[in-house]
Amino acid sequence: QTADSLFIINNFAEQFFTKALTESEEGRLIGLSYFKERGFREGIIEKFRLGYAPNDRDAFTREALSKQYNKELLLKSGLVAERNGALADNYRGRVIFPIHNHSGKVLGFGARILKTTDKAPKYINTPENEIYVKSKILYGSYFARTAIEKADECLLVEGYTDVVSLHQAGIENVVASGGTSLTVDQLRLIKKYTNNLTIIYDGDAAGVKAALRGLDLALEESLNVKLVLIPDKEDPDSFVNKIGAGAFTEFIKKNKKDFILFQLESSLASIGDDPVKKSELVNKIAESISRINKAEDFTKQQDYIKESAAILAIDEAGLHALVNKYIR
Ligand code: UTP
Ligand code: MN
Ligand code: MN
Ligand code: MN
Ligand code: MN
Repeated sequence: QTADSLFIINNFAEQFFTKALTESEEGRLIGLSYFKERGFREGIIEKFRLGYAPNDRDAFTREALSKQYNKELLLKSGLVAERNGALADNYRGRVIFPIHNHSGKVLGFGARILKTTDKAPKYINTPENEIYVKSKILYGSYFARTAIEKADECLLVEGYTDVVSLHQAGIENVVASGGTSLTVDQLRLIKKYTNNLTIIYDGDAAGVKAALRGLDLALEESLNVKLVLIPDKEDPDSFVNKIGAGAFTEFIKKNKKDFILFQLESSLASIGDDPVKKSELVNKIAESISRINKAEDFTKQQDYIKESAAILAIDEAGLHALVNKYIR
């Protein structure tokens, strides 16, 4: 029942924020201008139900209380917080990204500050509650599921704006992990739609590291994992807006790499002739291959052993034995 009530409050809030974006002067001048400057057009703003939280102490809170919404639930929803002994809005002067589940119900919100500073967090997200469970959220799944099934591929990006911009560019089979730590639950949600996952994380060190972490988990879930690295300092949102939809699609096609072979080739190139480092690399690859360990993945594992041994110029049987050592 708490869950149902939270859905109802979130639905009410989504309407409040979308109205505030387009029907108030503040919303149009500040929120809508912000989205437009980022290149979001009206159609995509409406589709994703993007909104604006007024820069007011309690504009939403007053509206919600006047409609008899329950205080405890309002606090639980994260829309309202207790400040100096009174209820006040948690999101103020921020643009709003509602987060929907696969059937379009509002689980919560990501609220972005307009100008980033060191003091305030860039995004404030809904706190964990009965319906907002961070580890199970895939931003964009409601808008992407049909396209994922049709393409038999899921593109995974980091952020809200990456999903929105790619959709606007006509690339709709895309969801976001919402930050950097991909979870097993998120991978299982993806697996309901497809076995083919392409990770497209930000072109910074954190993005690359997060992608490699996600890859190992994905292998254990028997997903076929490909990786695309976006150029340094860019993310899918900035990059697609810079080079355009056609060039972005080409870039993805050209730079999509099988993850194990990617890891192998890029490491091998930086190692040179150092035998100690090569041995470390062989162990790392064997460990990764050992994760492809479900019965139905037998052939896939054999293929990886064969290809990797060839790239590394080592004995295939030796690599096979090493892989088996890592299987827990
Ligand atoms: P990024 O820092 O890459 O932000 O974080 P972004 O998506 O590119 O957003 P813009 O373009 O600056 O507006 C990726 C994702 O990590 C989560 C959000 O889901 C964000 O989209 N995140 C990031 C937070 O939850 N809180 C933060 O303070 C920062
Ligand atoms: Mn990032
Ligand atoms: Mn960005
Ligand atoms: Mn980003
Ligand atoms: Mn074996």
